[in-house]
Amino acid sequence: MSAWRAVCDLDRLKAETIVRVHVAGLDVLVIWNEGDIIACDRACPHEQADLGLGQVRAGRLYCPRHAASFDLCDGAINSGWSSPPLRLYTVRITGEQIWIEMQERQPRR
Ligand code: FES
Repeated sequence: MSAWRAVCDLDRLKAETIVRVHVAGLDVLVIWNEGDIIACDRACPHEQADLGLGQVRAGRLYCPRHAASFDLCDGAINSGWSSPPLRLYTVRITGEQIWIEMQERQPRR
């Protein structure tokens, strides 16, 4: 089951690059990545650092704790690290409004 949730407007995202939102009980980041919009979990899947304090460079989100980075296309961590992928959410835009699709979560294995 899924539901679309409005999270922020495009002008705000362009101005801030990373917007932290709390939606459907989850902490999520909305990221402006060189013209693309990405939504992902705020907690790093490695050791739960706050990725909202990270940096976006060249299509990757860098974690502030260990400086590992995640591919914003598929959530994969860079080589040399062992971690589940960063959870990404489907995004759409209507007018200036950004929406993300919240899926019912399956437990990680
Ligand atoms: S906590 Fe994010 S890379 Fe370790």
